[in-house]
Amino acid sequence: MSWLQKIAVDQAKMIAGRGIAILSTGFSPRKYMLGMVLVIEESFPGVFRIEVDSKEVLATINLTPGLTFYGEQLIKVGDAEYRSWNPYRSKLAAAVLKGMKELHISSGDKILYLGVASGTTCSHISDIVGVIGHIWGVDFSPRPLRDMIDNLARRRSNVSPILGDARTPEAYSAAVPRVDVMYADVAQPDQADIVVKNAKMFLKPGGIALMAVKSRSIDVSRSPQRVYAEQVEALRVGGFEILEVLELGPFEKDHAMAVARLRP
Ligand SMILES: C[S@@+](CC[C@H](N)C(=O)[O-])C[C@H]1O[C@@H](n2cnc3c(N)ncnc32)[C@H](O)[C@@H]1O
Repeated sequence: MSWLQKIAVDQAKMIAGRGIAILSTGFSPRKYMLGMVLVIEESFPGVFRIEVDSKEVLATINLTPGLTFYGEQLIKVGDAEYRSWNPYRSKLAAAVLKGMKELHISSGDKILYLGVASGTTCSHISDIVGVIGHIWGVDFSPRPLRDMIDNLARRRSNVSPILGDARTPEAYSAAVPRVDVMYADVAQPDQADIVVKNAKMFLKPGGIALMAVKSRSIDVSRSPQRVYAEQVEALRVGGFEILEVLELGPFEKDHAMAVARLRP
């Protein structure tokens, strides 16, 4: 846990039970409204469950206080500011709420993110890895990547955008070092093969792959469970040990998150 996270947890513990939260719902950091924080706990290092006015939200500590990235709430607790993490907008948040055993992402980690899009999930991973960690975010669509650059990468030094096709990792091999974790959400039928190919080039032995699987992008005619099993099998054949597979409903219908470790 980083020093910033430790301070925030201590402050949260001090006021847990009955405290004041300051919430922001708009893009302006000045648009705050008052509410009550009832409970706060750390699910994983850097990931918190906060109960505000009887409503529980998942949150990360804002690395860039005052800034929001996709209209999320800002929740101020003492000197720390949290950003609510929407499980309907982020499959990783959905996986946490569906009972993921371990997040496998923590302060200081290096992350290769395939399918970073406009940076919604990436912004929370950026909060978690902190300033000593780094994310290389790949996407082949210029439009969402431009939004990611304008909203996120220009404002945070721990995010590097890469315009590229995840099927040809050799094209960005000079820009990406060995990483601790790969996060993949490209919603392609050959996603497991893409993960295996990138892992061979970039993932440290024993490193973790978190792979979101959208069954309808792969085969609408077969059951989602069958599609998940095939994708997981492709990871296994590609050198991974499967740690867990979580179905993401009701947050993301017909989606799963596979968690796998690259065999050393
Ligand atoms: C479901 S969206 C990702 C959402 C994002 N992960 C989030 O949670 O904020 C899928 C993204 O993958 C990108 N994508 C699909 N195939 C790709 C490929 N072969 N290489 C790079 N990006 C790809 C798409 O352009 C799209 O932006």
